[in-house]
Amino acid sequence: MKISVPKESLDGENRVAVIPAGVKQLAESGFSVAVQSGAGVSASFADDDYAAAGADVVTDTAAWEGDLVIKINKPTQAEIAKLRDGSALIALLQPLTNRELIQQLANRGVTSFSLDALPRISRAQSMDVLSSMSTIAGYKAVLLAAVELGKFLPMLMTAAGTIAPAKVFILGAGVAGLQAIATAKRLGAVVSAFDVRSAVKEQVESLGAEFVAAEELSGESEDAGGYAKELSEDQHAKELALIQEHSAKSDIIISTALIPGKPAPLLLTKDAISGMRPGSVIIDLAADAGGNCELTRAGETVEHGGVRILGPINLPSSVPLHASQMFSRNVLTFVKHLAPEGELVLDFEDEITRGTCITHRSKVVHEVTLKAYGGDSRQ
Ligand code: NAI
Repeated sequence: MKISVPKESLDGENRVAVIPAGVKQLAESGFSVAVQSGAGVSASFADDDYAAAGADVVTDTAAWEGDLVIKINKPTQAEIAKLRDGSALIALLQPLTNRELIQQLANRGVTSFSLDALPRISRAQSMDVLSSMSTIAGYKAVLLAAVELGKFLPMLMTAAGTIAPAKVFILGAGVAGLQAIATAKRLGAVVSAFDVRSAVKEQVESLGAEFVAAEELSGESEDAGGYAKELSEDQHAKELALIQEHSAKSDIIISTALIPGKPAPLLLTKDAISGMRPGSVIIDLAADAGGNCELTRAGETVEHGGVRILGPINLPSSVPLHASQMFSRNVLTFVKHLAPEGELVLDFEDEITRGTCITHRSKVVHEVTLKAYGGDSRQ
């Protein structure tokens, strides 16, 4: 089976889906791999590194001619036109919000897999690119905040006196939030975190942060799968009050709260921001999903009463080498799952295959996607 890795075309994208070490592994497993010239340059991987790993370094068009094309971002219309009829594609397709694209892939007879649809089960952990990218986002968010803040993060005892450590408050202690806690602790800040799932208290405390809790919110805020549920109006009002009180004492807030399949919950109101000290910094990682903060604008920095609110949208691309390395490792495990003997074998009884395969044999086959499209959208 021939695998192709094109260069990412999205503006500002520095990552590549498969790094040279991944090409080597694929080649050792019997796949032939073609990589578009320049695909890895922004992530520090030269064409020569790919060639040395066993890849054919090819031109633009040839990078779309594989039996399986692996990329990070969803393809553009022009890129879909370059795919071979009946080939397979792995990418982050976000099928629920990209109906036209999914229909185009179905029309071309492409068997497509969306990595953002991967079930968050133990067996799929080593394939979970969203967790890998959230780890990077959590880390980088703290670094961004540290640069923006006009203060030190650690406590310093100097001849010019003692400097108090900065206070960092993390909203949402999932993958991104826990990494943000760990990074802020390493930089010497005093860290606290809030999450509606009381189950994460132990993890927050094990990283040396304080868990900010409201008794009324704990217990029922988690679904059977361990994910946060949407709060009732009353619970949400209590949550906002608790966050507002704690925000006034914080220098940095990193917000990461997410409920799968829903717009990001609003956690930081304009009032809460007005109560923060000028010079404080908010990094809203949920900017893309509408933001956890009332004033966030995706991809921009907003200032309100001296508080700066950043809504970065592709932080993983700002750590391209390790983001590509992690993506590559995850996607390779996924490819080995789909093609254990070197050819695609689709077992729709398998939760991982069924959960990620969006189009197959000119039809949309993904149950959740079909439901979101309003029933049976098969061609
Ligand atoms: P996750 O699902 O692991 O964690 C989200 C956390 O938010 C969970 O612990 C959940 O309990 C918590 N939460 C949900 N509702 C809440 C509420 N009302 N109050 C407090 N906590 C609440 O998600 P993950 O992987 O950590 O991603 C976090 C966010 O970071 C997502 O919005 C994701 O899209 C974003 N992200 C942003 C990137 C960027 O470049 N801006 C890159 C990667 C991820």
